[in-house]
Amino acid sequence: MRVYPPIGGHKSLAEFKAHVASLALSIPCDDELLIGSSSPLAQPIGFNGKRIGNRFCIHPMEGWDGAPDGKPSDATIRRWRNFGLSGAKLIWGGEAVAVRHDGRANPNQLLMSEQNKAGLAELRETVLNAHREVGETHDDLFIGLQLTHSGRFSRPNEKTKPEPRILYHHPTLDRRVGVDEDYPLLTDAEVRSIIDSFVFAGRVASELGYDFVDIKHCHGYLGHEFLSAHTRDGRYGGSFENRTRFLREVVDGIRSFSPGLVIGVRVSIFDLISFRPDPAQTVDGKMGAGIPDDYETLLPYRYGFGVNCEQPEKYDLTEPRRFLSLLRDLKISLVNLTAGSPYYNPHVQRPALYPPSDGYQPPEDPLVGVARQMEATRVLKQEFPDLVFVGTGYTYLQEFLPFVAQAAVREGWVDSIGLGRMVLSYPELPRDVLTGDVLKHKRICRTFSDCTTAPRNGLPSGCYPLDSFYKQSEMGIELKRIKAAKKAK
Ligand SMILES: Cc1cc2nc3c(=O)[nH]c(=O)nc-3n(C[C@H](O)[C@H](O)[C@H](O)COP(=O)(O)O)c2cc1C
Ligand code: SF4
Repeated sequence: MRVYPPIGGHKSLAEFKAHVASLALSIPCDDELLIGSSSPLAQPIGFNGKRIGNRFCIHPMEGWDGAPDGKPSDATIRRWRNFGLSGAKLIWGGEAVAVRHDGRANPNQLLMSEQNKAGLAELRETVLNAHREVGETHDDLFIGLQLTHSGRFSRPNEKTKPEPRILYHHPTLDRRVGVDEDYPLLTDAEVRSIIDSFVFAGRVASELGYDFVDIKHCHGYLGHEFLSAHTRDGRYGGSFENRTRFLREVVDGIRSFSPGLVIGVRVSIFDLISFRPDPAQTVDGKMGAGIPDDYETLLPYRYGFGVNCEQPEKYDLTEPRRFLSLLRDLKISLVNLTAGSPYYNPHVQRPALYPPSDGYQPPEDPLVGVARQMEATRVLKQEFPDLVFVGTGYTYLQEFLPFVAQAAVREGWVDSIGLGRMVLSYPELPRDVLTGDVLKHKRICRTFSDCTTAPRNGLPSGCYPLDSFYKQSEMGIELKRIKAAKKAK
């Protein structure tokens, strides 16, 4: 099995750049960080009369720690407080909030409902207060709520019990969620009712003062599955027009009730076929490197969005371009580009050196995954300069993240640098970068993946290795026990 050099092992920018060059990747990287108002990362973003105060965005990240009825817990509030302290001026939804119970990805996911309004309002207030605490103004802080239905990956009632809601039968994903060929598809009438739930959720978000909602179209969840529903019959499948009808109907519905609410979309702008651990390399319970699922009998491959249909190990931006044009037509300017799915190709979605417990060893140097997302974003940004793009996949860059982020913004590859895992371990990173403080190396996320392994084993998510809140808790002890037991097996 290949072993890839850890980023933390590079002692200088020159070594990091040499590593990038050895992989023949194109990742821009500045030699010096600018601070204060001269920094490209400190420049505001203006769109449709709105202002976002700087170029850092906090990506949505679920904590699997809401109450069973979908209200935020103290741990949820603590996470959102950290988002407010971070200094980032765009808070992309904080985390996915299910628009109804059957669409929850886990029984502790936040849930939109009349009863949960106060809790969801408190999350926004928490961000505002934390932001104020560190001396930041609010008028350029933009806070959204990510609205979701988990579709194929729903587990609303028990952590270990998938209850998929699917739009079509998928040749490689059905078996992963225990679906056989007789399993029922969501009917068009059921889809309509889900659309009504999104509209209700948008109305509530607006009432609670959120600046925007994200109609989530990524990571294999329902919104994303519509985009690949080539084989579905009826109004919501087949043609591009039908596969995007869900989005258009949600947007129409939300705008009819909440005309002032900004709508954004987080989309897996490309995808690859599903991966699994190579059985030939799986030794003593240690998973092999990821290999693609067999697809020879599935060509042309019609089960993904932004996937090359002749070579589904590669992406194809033809339809994603159409999708972005549609967003433009719908006057949706705020777009968060991500890729793939944490369930079936995590190396594409969140490049990591250490896989989660149910994943596989990296099939490529994780820097390749970072460069793949950055390059697609660069190409699309050139073609859609009027859209505001948030980019994804930067955490793996670790201490070199600020240098790459500054170069990417300066060179116009992307408008805003989205941060996921890094803010679980080191929430103040954006502030430290903008003020020129020395980076706290001990807080830098090393992509150990415990924040994914924990929920896959029924525990809340969090940075177990680096955040003392989790490390020293009973949850931390339990996670250690689970990992040791798996290793012993
Ligand atoms: C624990 C965890 C929870 C996540 N939850 C969400 C989510 O609710 N919605 C979403 O769009 N992405 C979610 N993601 C994906 C992140 O937003 C982000 O795309 C991913 O971590 C890659 O960015 P990074 O390299 O900065 O970590 C989650 C990621 C992690 C690690
Ligand atoms: S557990 Fe912490 S160090 Fe590991 S990937 Fe998640 S945020 Fe990073």
